[in-house]
Amino acid sequence: MIHDVQHDENPLGAGLDQLPPPSSVLVIFGGTGNLSKRKLLPALYNLAHDGALPERFGLVGVAMDDLDDEGYRTLVGEAIQKYSRRPCDPLVLETFLSTISFVSGGFEEEDAYQALEPRLAALDDRAGQALNRVFYLSTAPRFFGTIIEQLGAHGLSDRSGADTRVIIEKPFGTTKQEALALNARVLNVLREEQVYRIDHYLGKETVQNLLALRFANGLFEPIWNRNHIQSVQITAGESVGLEGRAGYYDTSGALRDLVQNHLLQLLCNLAMEPPTTFTADDIRTEKVKVLRAITPIDPDRIEEVAVRGRYGPGTVGGEDVLGYLEEPDVPETSTTETFVALRLEVDTWRWAGVPFYIRTGKRISRKLTEIAVTLRPVPHNAFDGTTVEPNQIVFSIQPDEHVSIKLAAKVPGSGMNLRPVTMDFSYGTAFLSASPEAYERLVTDALRGDATLFTRADEVEAQWAVMDPILTAWTRSSASPDDYPAGTSGPKSARRILLPGDRWRAI
Ligand code: BG6
Repeated sequence: MIHDVQHDENPLGAGLDQLPPPSSVLVIFGGTGNLSKRKLLPALYNLAHDGALPERFGLVGVAMDDLDDEGYRTLVGEAIQKYSRRPCDPLVLETFLSTISFVSGGFEEEDAYQALEPRLAALDDRAGQALNRVFYLSTAPRFFGTIIEQLGAHGLSDRSGADTRVIIEKPFGTTKQEALALNARVLNVLREEQVYRIDHYLGKETVQNLLALRFANGLFEPIWNRNHIQSVQITAGESVGLEGRAGYYDTSGALRDLVQNHLLQLLCNLAMEPPTTFTADDIRTEKVKVLRAITPIDPDRIEEVAVRGRYGPGTVGGEDVLGYLEEPDVPETSTTETFVALRLEVDTWRWAGVPFYIRTGKRISRKLTEIAVTLRPVPHNAFDGTTVEPNQIVFSIQPDEHVSIKLAAKVPGSGMNLRPVTMDFSYGTAFLSASPEAYERLVTDALRGDATLFTRADEVEAQWAVMDPILTAWTRSSASPDDYPAGTSGPKSARRILLPGDRWRAI
């Protein structure tokens, strides 16, 4: 157990900017959708609870629904009651709801934008200043380009005296070509510094802490390379299935849904060179270098480095669940993967030859996201007859938030017997406080104008460049994904891509 050094101040607060973001209005396109209800609106409520919203703040929901302001406030209040991480404080909720209004309209229709303009002007008048504007595109991806073009056409994309920013949800394209085309449309209207492409994994405390541990401690850097590291393993298991999103998921699959964005970001944070400063561009430039150094997969040798799987019927958490093909709205002929395992290589001086294993799946036995770094074995084992297991550093991203280092230790007694033990740093124990939700952090950063935890145009293109050859190989193959029963750790064939001596960690 590692004890944190005690500070007089709350250590959680020490790294946070305590000033509220500048006065702003947040416009959520898709303000009645699933993501808004489950994540965004509860995140905003929790910011209100912490006094972390701007002093002058307005929230405008835009969606097709036939609602007035009052109707939208009711919807928002219900969503917050249901999904907020904290129980609702009626006073905070009432004050928060009083900042909210609604514009009903289709994202492709002029009317919505014509109605939005006076609404935003009225909010400025009421605040007595030009409020910063943040437009959050929480819509189906096919609307991203159109909404931004409409904002431009209606003079809403920029103005003097206040900042305008646009947050874009995932997925940003489904191939590199699509990402390039969407970037071109977006950047035809906005400057890159106005664009905030969201990847909610970057908002997780444990993901940001990866950089803190790597770059604020002298301990790790000397061993953080091919000379000392045997392999890296990134796992994101999910016990959930489709959660009613078959329409989206069947056209996406696990590779696009989780690997292209979230898991590549984890890989980048683990593998990047130390940035010169902790500013948005320095950090993102280092991540792009990692992505560009990933050896492109040869589609003809896909079987050696990639496995795709699909869950069949099984039991998860004691409940019987359907197989993927039996799920409502999944076509019988679907070949969509719900599991992916990959072996990637980052071809740089630091990492050449080190396998980066990535694994993710739906309907896995439990939810678990972690990065395990396995060190090379000691060069000489002087402990006759005893196996010495290599050291392992495990960053547990969720649901447990901790970091552990596996060491070999002597078992008490007269002999020299060894056993692996762990040294743990647990967030709950060290900081005595629950981590905020990723969206709380990300919305705050966008309101403040800090794009460090958002994906830059060249970064998202470089991510897709890693995915494209895999997608090409899978599209041209007639094989179906390998089956695995729901509630297990994925298909047995995932072992195929491991190098001799490596093994998957238990989930
Ligand atoms: C989303 C994916 O981006 O991330 C979902 O679309 C997935 O399919 C989710 O369930 C996982 O996020 P988290 O924060 O629960 O790990």
